[in-house]
Amino acid sequence: MSRTRLLITRRLADEVLALAHQKFDVSLWPADEPIGAALLERAAGCDAVLVMPTERLDRPTLQALRPGVRALATHSVGYDHIDLDAATELGLPVFHTPDVLNDAVAETAMLLILSACRGASSAEAVLRRGEWGPWSPTQFVGRQLTGRRLGIFGMGRIGVALAQRARAFGVELHYHNRSPAVDAAGMHYHATLESLMKVSDILCVCAPSTPQTRGAINRERIELLPPGAVFVNIARGDLVDEPALMDAIESGRIGAAGLDVYRNEPRIDPRWLTLPRTTVLPHIGSGTQEARFAMGRIALEALDAWLHHGRPPPNCLNPSVLQPRPSGGPT
Ligand code: DGY
Repeated sequence: MSRTRLLITRRLADEVLALAHQKFDVSLWPADEPIGAALLERAAGCDAVLVMPTERLDRPTLQALRPGVRALATHSVGYDHIDLDAATELGLPVFHTPDVLNDAVAETAMLLILSACRGASSAEAVLRRGEWGPWSPTQFVGRQLTGRRLGIFGMGRIGVALAQRARAFGVELHYHNRSPAVDAAGMHYHATLESLMKVSDILCVCAPSTPQTRGAINRERIELLPPGAVFVNIARGDLVDEPALMDAIESGRIGAAGLDVYRNEPRIDPRWLTLPRTTVLPHIGSGTQEARFAMGRIALEALDAWLHHGRPPPNCLNPSVLQPRPSGGPT
């Protein structure tokens, strides 16, 4: 019997690729550049596709894939690049990579919070330019975390992991979520984003990109933050009205910022690179060896479980399309 054919749309770490070769007949797009329009051509004859968050799987693309492709996995926890409703209507299961990147992304959030609060990027730039003057009590003065109110917008798995770490820095924890989180003992719940923003000396955006959250950080809400507040985003750029945020940073209304995500990645608005008191990272949130390996592994395991054994994997985004097949075997 022929092996299940899997298209992987980006070069992967050798260990992850080795796992893929054990389970599938792999067709690899070997470049670091997105596969783009070649996706459909490359997917011809494939049973499954493992995509990256840079691939846009809209309804027409899913419809074109569907006749042959029986399962889709994304090498990301975020799935805003996939039309999930269309996939579900087409009976196409979609798997993602939750949990295994919580620690890595929460560490990135702490990195940005600390960097923004202490002005690490600007201080390093001074040093690199050879402009470091003699030590002075007024030089490189930032904000200490102790006692400040950290507002977390989105208390999902990554929000919880961030809160656990931030607690050790002595911050007071506040959050907004659709409903109070079970893992949020000792934290202050805010039923509205407005209420959270009013108290956040530091605001960290951890919410997923959904029709409800897109554009949530708009000009009016930014005005609610305490003057000089610190703004951090490790979620998705489209939650933010970028020109409004840039104006607020430039004017000093927002005292410092730390960003890992943007609209239009990787061709971001060049203004980001000119802003004062801002740490900018190129979407490295899940970028640890541990997380990236685990993300690849659980995406492949989900495809293997479903396609080869008929077992519904827990990391399916649209489980309604999974009909258990008691006998197992290929679909
Ligand atoms: C995700 O998994 O959604 C991350 O943003 C990719 O690093």
